[in-house]
Amino acid sequence: MCGIVGYVGPRSAATVVVEGLRRMEYRGYDSAGVAVVADGRISLRKKAGKLANLEAELAAEALPDSRQGLGHTRWATHGAPTDVNAHPHLSYNGRVALVHNGIIENHAALREELEADGVRFVSETDSEAAAHLLGRAVERNPSLLDAMREVCGRLQGAFTLVAFDLAQPGRIVAARRNSPLVVGVGQGEAFVASDVASFIGYTKEAIELGQDQVVEITADSVTALTFTGEPAVVRPYAIAWDLSAAEKGGYDWFMRKEIYEQPKAAADTLLGRIGPDGTLCLDEMRIDPAVLRLADKVIIVACGTAYHAGLIAKYAIEHWTRIPCEVEIASEFRYRDPIVTRTTIVVTISQSGETADTLMAIRHAREQQAPVVAICNTNGSSIPRESDAVLYTRAGPEIGVASTKGFTTQIIACYLLGLYLAQERGLKYGDEIRQIVAELSALPAQMEQVLAKLAEVGDLARELADAPSVLFIGRHVGYPVALEGALKLKEISYLHAEGFAAGELKHGPIALVEPGLPIFAVVPPQGRDQLHDKVISNIQEVRSRGARTIVLAEEGDVEAVPYADHVISLPVVSTLFQPLVAIIPLQFFACEIATLNGHDVDQPRNLAKSVTVE
Ligand code: AGP
Repeated sequence: MCGIVGYVGPRSAATVVVEGLRRMEYRGYDSAGVAVVADGRISLRKKAGKLANLEAELAAEALPDSRQGLGHTRWATHGAPTDVNAHPHLSYNGRVALVHNGIIENHAALREELEADGVRFVSETDSEAAAHLLGRAVERNPSLLDAMREVCGRLQGAFTLVAFDLAQPGRIVAARRNSPLVVGVGQGEAFVASDVASFIGYTKEAIELGQDQVVEITADSVTALTFTGEPAVVRPYAIAWDLSAAEKGGYDWFMRKEIYEQPKAAADTLLGRIGPDGTLCLDEMRIDPAVLRLADKVIIVACGTAYHAGLIAKYAIEHWTRIPCEVEIASEFRYRDPIVTRTTIVVTISQSGETADTLMAIRHAREQQAPVVAICNTNGSSIPRESDAVLYTRAGPEIGVASTKGFTTQIIACYLLGLYLAQERGLKYGDEIRQIVAELSALPAQMEQVLAKLAEVGDLARELADAPSVLFIGRHVGYPVALEGALKLKEISYLHAEGFAAGELKHGPIALVEPGLPIFAVVPPQGRDQLHDKVISNIQEVRSRGARTIVLAEEGDVEAVPYADHVISLPVVSTLFQPLVAIIPLQFFACEIATLNGHDVDQPRNLAKSVTVE
């Protein structure tokens, strides 16, 4: 949600900024803008709609050549996505250009105060107040950093701010509270951005800023302070992936590329975490093993796809550790006064590490003194920073808004955590762990087998492209797979899709079934007789009412075939691991349907990749 870039250096600032915005398009936005300083004045272009509109504007009226610029992609919260509401915003005195990500909660009071002082607002945004405040602050404060600190002291809510002052060329100042911001350090140039993707083409050296810090960059310096003016403790790190990871590499969509990257992402997530003797070594688990041994409850908190990964993890964690495990939607968690104590391990799952609902849930859990373990894909993001321990999924950058490799690696990381808990609590013998670990290690190859057969799913999508509605059913871990299959279809195809626990159908949803309705059914492996047979019965129930059944069943499952209009065969894996192979055809199906229906798969309407507001 909202992408921010600032640049100081020898290159064309407008080019670097627009390219940076392009690389952050995946975050979701509905207007864009860029401002540069040249010839002693600020020049600005901003446009509602996609970046292409801004680029057309720039082509019609180019910005002057400049060594300093900033830009923004805006996901509207306060005020419609119009040209005027797009960022950057200028201060009343014309000195400051500023961009903002987040929500300034006290903007109405600030606007009232500034208007009483004669400041005239031109937009409906909360952000404009920050531009005027900084315009006022630089008039009386010679230090840009101190002026920005003063502004931050006036703001309530979540914000990343990036700004420059016309009177202090060659400097860009930025601030962060509850919203992402990283610094890129190049040779004689520097960047600030919401995401390293925006500057990965120029440098791999990044600096992670902490909460409530301000930073000033020039072409050859980076100075960071806390909001209260002390030197800030920051974390320099090297970005582990390169530009090609942030490009489509011949695929039509990032989502499709990311579907195909799942075997590697899964293998990378396992890498180095399993010792030669089969025991688990999770070096990142900075939580005292005694705390893990004493835990009497696990609560998993997450949103969307990450929540579905948590629902699957619950089965494994309870099965392996016998510790009760609850799974909660992060936006609901803190508002229901959950029972969380020092002996509750709170596990948060987030691909981006910036989801505001999940971040707030962490803070609530930590206030109750619960140890928090983050499962996250984004190095140095807010969620792992605010957790007691982190287990990184190593999926590489996930750019498609619809999470794919994020999901499968989250399941794997949760399983590692569950096994680790079992190991530390002495609940599993070494050879049991070794056997499970061997099954986990076989998964990347099994995922490859599924990927190799996706052409059939493409054919199926062509047959079903006009279906107005699609249902997904499953039991046990197949139930969250059904929920995730439906979510994928909804978010990128805009089709009505629902996932149900197969056993619940007869309690209401079966009334939706009418002739021709496509229903995907996830059939458990045959080893789990009861569950397997129950799902087969559920398939018969819907088929006898005219549903068109698409059955995902393991190879050789002859019992499922008679009730299937289409069979998607899956490799033979244990029940707990089936989601990791079963979800792939469903992801691909959604991608195909969206493509066939002419939708933008990577940037679906109304959605943002990283949801940084509550
Ligand atoms: C996934 O396809 C969705 N776009 C969305 O549900 C996402 O999983 C959710 O917003 C959580 O994001 P996070 O993993 O970055 O916290």
